[in-house]
Amino acid sequence: MNARLVVLVSGEGTNLQALIDACEDEDYGATVVAVGADRDGTGALDRAARHDIPTFTRKVRDFTSRADWDQALADDCQRYRPDLVVSAGFMKLVGKRFLGVFGGRFLNTHPALLPSFPGMHGVRDALDYGVKVTGCTVFLVDEGTDSGPVLAQAAVEVLDDDDEATLHERIKVSERKLLVDTVGRMAREGWTAESARKVRLGQ
Ligand code: GAR
Repeated sequence: MNARLVVLVSGEGTNLQALIDACEDEDYGATVVAVGADRDGTGALDRAARHDIPTFTRKVRDFTSRADWDQALADDCQRYRPDLVVSAGFMKLVGKRFLGVFGGRFLNTHPALLPSFPGMHGVRDALDYGVKVTGCTVFLVDEGTDSGPVLAQAAVEVLDDDDEATLHERIKVSERKLLVDTVGRMAREGWTAESARKVRLGQ
């Protein structure tokens, strides 16, 4: 049976689109059953609608506390009985309640080689630092900021003339492939936590 994916988004949704496209192949092993967002009017929600995928939106400002938002987001996801929840450009940190339900099966993608350059501006920070190689990381989310165990990484060369937009665009090409490959392997082969930091794809 296909693994059920709920994908959380805030932006353009090219990573979401890559997952939707991959799921069209019945051998891929997964299906996007719902898309959740923290804001209206994003390209990602339009992409979900075009593919008739159910969506939900939970805005932090509609709740009196961050913990209540966190609980509502967890409840929304839970309704779709996901095997995996994927944060694909979702620009919010979840809290204890969400992780209490989905910890260990909530993954995120980040446009830098963690643990370097965590946070909201991974591409800009790498460029400003002057590194010659950066990349992308798919990891399991824990309570820290981009600090959970790494599932997969890919390197991307920084070119002399890169600005944030050109570098991010090239990272995103690698990132989409990495995310699709990693989610597919998790769906088909499972994964094994060997220690608090080390996770292996497959049993
Ligand atoms: C991706 O590059 C993702 O890694 C990044 O946002 C982009 C979303 O693109 N996420 C973060 O920076 C999270 N800290 P998309 O909306 O086209 O998939």
